[in-house]
Amino acid sequence: MTEVPGDAIKLPGGRMTDGVVRVNDSVRRPASDSSEFVAALLQAFEQCEFDGAPKYLGQVDGMDILSFLPGEVPERFQVWEDNQVAAAGALLRAMHDATRGSELAGRFPVVCHHDVGPNNAVFVDGLPSAWIDFDFAAPGSPLEDFGYAAWTWCIASKCAVPVERQAEQVKILADAYGLQGPERGAVIDAILEQQARNARFWAELMASPDTAPAGPDVLASRIEWSRRELAFTAANRSVFENALA
Ligand SMILES: Nc1ncnc2c1ncn2[C@@H]1O[C@H](COP(=O)(O)OP(=O)(O)O)[C@@H](O)[C@H]1O
Ligand SMILES: [Mg+2]
Repeated sequence: MTEVPGDAIKLPGGRMTDGVVRVNDSVRRPASDSSEFVAALLQAFEQCEFDGAPKYLGQVDGMDILSFLPGEVPERFQVWEDNQVAAAGALLRAMHDATRGSELAGRFPVVCHHDVGPNNAVFVDGLPSAWIDFDFAAPGSPLEDFGYAAWTWCIASKCAVPVERQAEQVKILADAYGLQGPERGAVIDAILEQQARNARFWAELMASPDTAPAGPDVLASRIEWSRRELAFTAANRSVFENALA
């Protein structure tokens, strides 16, 4: 049985984890199968002085304890300024560099976060300054995170911002990340892959309604959204490619 102190404050905004609370300067999240890897990852970040993530502070009563990072975590996707997109690109690169070639990355180039949307970034003075919510972190290819970030920070099918301008922001993200040569040419495929993966992720949760973090209507709308975004990105492939060239 998990117990939290009486002065715990429920933290809203997350979509996956029930029971995330703040206690003074710490955050407590229910421990899960990913706890061990996340603890090792956050400790590795600390050792190499990457400060764009919470510190791991141990476990109590079945809860992981992390440092609370002051700032704003946006609950909704929205249109960002160029400097905010650039800061997200630089922060993503710094996080990848922190595990490049490390034991934790295993046979992959880096450890990926696998959920680097604005909803998992802490903003300080208007700029993303840290990532939170490492539950899906695992060894991977940087383009997995880059594709997901390009989508969730820069692209939206139902948005007043013209697609040419969205593509410009994908270029800003790529430049700030320092994405080079052939990898730059694979960005659209990486975005499409993440949109398809997202649709599959929510569909798989729908198949196990007892443990799903939302009801079938919400899950269905997320699948539909992911597919709509994929269709939009595919239809505008040349616009995105031209901007990145
Ligand atoms: N270390 C932290 N520092 C500050 N706020 C946090 C921290 N961890 C979580 N939060 C807040 O709690 C919310 C939910 O936590 P999160 O780890 O993202 O869970 P979920 O898996 O549900 O998305 C976040 O959106 C954020 O507002
Ligand atoms: Mg989250």
